[in-house]
Amino acid sequence: MRTITIIEDEKLLGSELKRRFEREGWSVTLSPTLADARRLIMELDFSPSIVLSDMNLPDGNGLDFLEEVRAHGGRSEWIFLSGYGSRQDIARAAKLGALDFLAKPLDYHKLDLTIATATRGARARQRITDTARTGAQKYSPDSFIGDSPAATQVRTMLGQLATIPITSILLGGETGTGKGLVAKILHYAGQRAEGPFVDLNCAAIPRDMLESELFGHEPGAFTGAKGRHRGLMEQADGGTLFLDEIGEMDIGLQSKLLKAIEEQSFRRVGGEEKISVDIQLITASNRDLRAASDQGDFRRDLYHRISVFELRLPSLRERPNDIASIVTTLFTEFNARSGKQVSILPPSILETLQSYSWPGNVRELRNVIERSVMLATGPELPREWLGIAPDSTTASPATPVAPHRQSGPAPIAPPDVTLHDPDGLTLPLDGSMTLDDMEECIIRTVLERHNYNVMAAVRALGTTRETLRYRIRKYGLEALVHA
Ligand SMILES: Nc1ncnc2c1ncn2[C@@H]1O[C@H](COP(=O)(O)OP(=O)(O)OP(=O)(O)O)[C@@H](O)[C@H]1O
Ligand SMILES: [Mg+2]
Repeated sequence: MRTITIIEDEKLLGSELKRRFEREGWSVTLSPTLADARRLIMELDFSPSIVLSDMNLPDGNGLDFLEEVRAHGGRSEWIFLSGYGSRQDIARAAKLGALDFLAKPLDYHKLDLTIATATRGARARQRITDTARTGAQKYSPDSFIGDSPAATQVRTMLGQLATIPITSILLGGETGTGKGLVAKILHYAGQRAEGPFVDLNCAAIPRDMLESELFGHEPGAFTGAKGRHRGLMEQADGGTLFLDEIGEMDIGLQSKLLKAIEEQSFRRVGGEEKISVDIQLITASNRDLRAASDQGDFRRDLYHRISVFELRLPSLRERPNDIASIVTTLFTEFNARSGKQVSILPPSILETLQSYSWPGNVRELRNVIERSVMLATGPELPREWLGIAPDSTTASPATPVAPHRQSGPAPIAPPDVTLHDPDGLTLPLDGSMTLDDMEECIIRTVLERHNYNVMAAVRALGTTRETLRYRIRKYGLEALVHA
């Protein structure tokens, strides 16, 4: 619904505008005073897409009112009807995000153009609010599943952390324990939910590119730096920056990052201007960064700065009693995707799942359940596709057993990935594959095409050997390259 609020005390102009917009299908409210508009927007919580407001009203100033509305969280596009805004007024209006000043008497052609721009802006904002809203639904603290004391404690912490402004938090835990999930929960359940969530995996970017990726660069800052590039720090302004696998960042860049977070400002590579940002920093690592900083592999001062809050996520083998509830939730998700109706987890299978050590944690459990649901023929989860062997008693938590794929059936490529030409690969962008699934698929495909030669795959992917090794471990593909 296109809604517009007109705040105008000149009766004739007010009703003329109202009629005009109504004729074009808008739903219009007309307020002759600020008090009236205040009641509508603040008390009744009406949020018109556009506000068309006079500047000088009998009971106050339009700019003060805009400021009030913004403080109240109102995001309507705002257009002032007043030709004679002083320079200060214009600066203030711009700062408050007003769109334009239109002179009186009104030029209707100009009005139409401005309204068209405002409509586009309102739509874009609506999208941002929608993303924040779906994010908030999808990533509430309750999406971290499990009733064990360990999982409950994580959820309680998340609920608490979401209510306070945190500047930095460090997430620890093995691969697949939900660090990425928790980062999103902290953002979308927190006070910055309407701001951007920007994530960067420090291990996925070649070392010499990481700095400009993070801070951006000016044209010509280095060979190959063509235009100006806004870094991720800048893009995360007002929201959250999630630096995953921060343990992989090189020491030199670590000190630059420390300076930037302490000062909440930085310069682009090759740039002079200081850019100030307001970001919440979430970092994650599956290495013990405290130990790494004791050994000099990670800057101690940066470690202290990013670990104001530290949250270690429990491995699945520390909470085997959560497996049943996670599996049941996964049934719902994968049934919806595959049209199957799996609902029964036979006790003997649950026992097998609980006695396995899950080196890949919830990610691995997801993969196992996904495959089994896809291949199920009835309401019962079939055993033959689990592909996991119960642990031998010698396996201790510190020495994860080999991933299940060594003994399991050959992995099955997701059905809708089509191989395109010998050099390319097409992935569906309709939400049916997660980013992780895509990454796994890419790595698997490249390995396959290079006869499981890791160095050849490293070259083909333009990455480093450590990065690829880490990912191979992450997705449990060791069996492929050791074969
Ligand atoms: N407690 C949980 N409840 C529900 N889903 C979970 C939970 N923990 C993890 N997951 C799911 O498991 C998968 C892997 O989690 P995630 O990617 O967050 O792991 P990670 O700790 O970031 O691993 P890595 O170190 O390998 O990046 C995701 O699909 C995530 O949604
Ligand atoms: Mg992760």
